[in-house]
Amino acid sequence: MLKDSLDLMKIKNKLQNSLKGKIDPSLLDKIPSGYSVIGDIAIFHHINEGLNSIKEHIGDLVIQFDPQVSVVVEQIETKSIYRKPVIEYIAGEKRALTIHKEYNTLFHIDVSKITFSPGNKGERGFLINTVKNGEIVCDMFACIGNLSLPIVVNNPSITVYGIEANKDAFDFLKKNIKENDVQGRYHPVFGDNRIKTPEGIANRVIMGFFETDIIQFTKAVDAIQNEGWIHHHFISSRNLNYKIEDMIKSTKNKVKFRVESTEIRKVKKVSPRLIHHCADIKIRK
Ligand SMILES: C[S@@+](CC[C@H](N)C(=O)[O-])C[C@H]1O[C@@H](n2cnc3c(N)ncnc32)[C@H](O)[C@@H]1O
Repeated sequence: MLKDSLDLMKIKNKLQNSLKGKIDPSLLDKIPSGYSVIGDIAIFHHINEGLNSIKEHIGDLVIQFDPQVSVVVEQIETKSIYRKPVIEYIAGEKRALTIHKEYNTLFHIDVSKITFSPGNKGERGFLINTVKNGEIVCDMFACIGNLSLPIVVNNPSITVYGIEANKDAFDFLKKNIKENDVQGRYHPVFGDNRIKTPEGIANRVIMGFFETDIIQFTKAVDAIQNEGWIHHHFISSRNLNYKIEDMIKSTKNKVKFRVESTEIRKVKKVSPRLIHHCADIKIRK
């Protein structure tokens, strides 16, 4: 879960109080003000270099102060289109496997192989509440079921096709489908969604990836039955420099459809200047 800011403030205060008098006072302000928690693993995304020599001590204190946490790691970066994380163990067991629970859904995950954004919790809730009974959903970037597994778990009338190209993520997706007992309603499909996206079956397509191309957008349109929704995720600055019109215009050269409405929602802040948005696009063929 994403720790709420009050919890984090309390933990940061406790860390500062514990380290007062033991480190250079100028470093007290550099103590990170947040981490995300996946299962029982706390993930720091950036720890100031000045704190390198006391990182392990900070990790031990987090385990002491935060009852949810038994392992502390730092995620240094993510690599390739699979967003493979590079992590460093800071405190607790050297273990990257955990089970994360959200919206009644269990996600087995290895945080050294796969990223999972607790900041998308609101989006998971949005999808559970927005998808209508009996719908067929196509998740073109399924990962371990991040956005689409909770929909199936919380609504027994929904069917999902989830496409994933990374074998590590796909294996966890299959494990999670079984763990949540939704075999038969969640169909995992291994491979590149430019080739594997099923056609003409979906009421709704989720495109939860920031670097989509025109082929993928065309595949999303192809996947929709006569009418339906495309949820297109993107990163943009506050002034919304998102050119959905360009994407739609190029796609219209390839397939026939019309856009009935487009609404843009804020999903989360990713940095002081960048926002993760989702465009909810209603199309009809
Ligand atoms: C950032 S994750 C998104 C997970 C989820 N949608 C979310 O928002 O939490 C993107 C996933 O898409 C997968 N992916 C990237 N390109 C793909 C492609 N062409 N076909 C299928 N999967 C792809 C990656 O392996 C990764 O697991």
